[in-house]
Amino acid sequence: MNYKAEQSRYESMQYNQVGRSGLKLPAISLGLWHNFGDVTNFQTAKKIIFRAFDLGITHFDLANNYGPPPGSAESNFGRIMKRHLKKYRDELIISSKAGYPMWKGPYGDGGSRKYLIASLDQSLERMGLDYVDVFYSHRFDPETPLEETMGALDQIVRSGKALYAGISNYNAEQTREAARIAEDFGTPLIIHQHRYSMLSRKLEKGTAQAIQQTGLGTIVFSPLAQGMLTAKYLNGIPKSSRAGSASIFLKENEITDEYLKKAQKLDELAQERSQTLAQMALAWVLNNPVVTSALVGASSPDQIEENVATIENLEFEKEELDQIEAILND
Ligand SMILES: NC(=O)c1ccc[n+]([C@@H]2O[C@H](COP(=O)([O-])OP(=O)(O)OC[C@H]3O[C@@H](n4cnc5c(N)ncnc54)[C@H](OP(=O)(O)O)[C@@H]3O)[C@@H](O)[C@H]2O)c1
Repeated sequence: MNYKAEQSRYESMQYNQVGRSGLKLPAISLGLWHNFGDVTNFQTAKKIIFRAFDLGITHFDLANNYGPPPGSAESNFGRIMKRHLKKYRDELIISSKAGYPMWKGPYGDGGSRKYLIASLDQSLERMGLDYVDVFYSHRFDPETPLEETMGALDQIVRSGKALYAGISNYNAEQTREAARIAEDFGTPLIIHQHRYSMLSRKLEKGTAQAIQQTGLGTIVFSPLAQGMLTAKYLNGIPKSSRAGSASIFLKENEITDEYLKKAQKLDELAQERSQTLAQMALAWVLNNPVVTSALVGASSPDQIEENVATIENLEFEKEELDQIEAILND
């Protein structure tokens, strides 16, 4: 059956301006790092994407290496695009990235012009798209002059294969330098993708300030700390969860007693706010003025629903923020 998007899809989502650009992103965006590769159920993947778009999530974030195997998240997304979402292409913001190892040899990793341009061509082919909306340098590459990496992003935008450029995992100094070079080139570098959550606050140590000063927007990844900022681990590690599965990115030994004590207290505070822990964690990142969008992952449509409902309560009393700090620093 062909998918038809909900009429009401723009009624409740909030859309935030990306830095000084004219682009808006939904407060909650969806990333396809996990749960969209060939190892996961394609029907579930499809349902997650449909539910997301039905609830106003217009932004889907990919990268060349998402899977497993690498590339398969883009191929599966491409199948869904082709069959169901092509007619909504102008309502969607689709991003991809290159920077981490993707193919053998010296040209499948890093930040060279050769790698970025070849990789985007492969990504477009897998997704069956003419262009992505945002293309990122996935990481700073110390072996490539930044002028070359930014020059590749510039060429990509000028060739029409991306509308905007982004950087990810750059530190404060690298961000300032990238923005300066982009300005010289006239490249629309508009966004920084950085890890940020109550459990991961490196962004606050200089990079957030650099992002604000250079007029970029910020989309923050892993705002739920890969599921640790939800209630799912409070009573043991579910087999189906990221920590309980074969994921190499969240391991069982990260679910420590010390973490559980904090998570329990955060969960109690969330309940006092009539929210789930996941919702409080998302509201907390969105409460930082540097954050444009919280980039979540999901393994079911229900998680999308819960996460999108966060926007019903984004406000914090100062006392609540102080309580969160006290729990985190305990
Ligand atoms: N630029 C980069 O270097 C970089 C790096 C990492 C990620 N990213 C991007 O950020 C996106 C999100 O990263 P992430 O997946 O780590 O984000 P996350 O939102 O912190 O974690 C997502 C995981 O948490 C669990 N979850 C989500 N909502 C839940 C809910 N309401 N209740 C219970 N559990 C819930 C699910 O795991 P279960 O499987 O346990 O259900 C889900 O897969 C990625 O897809 C990617 O697009 C970018």
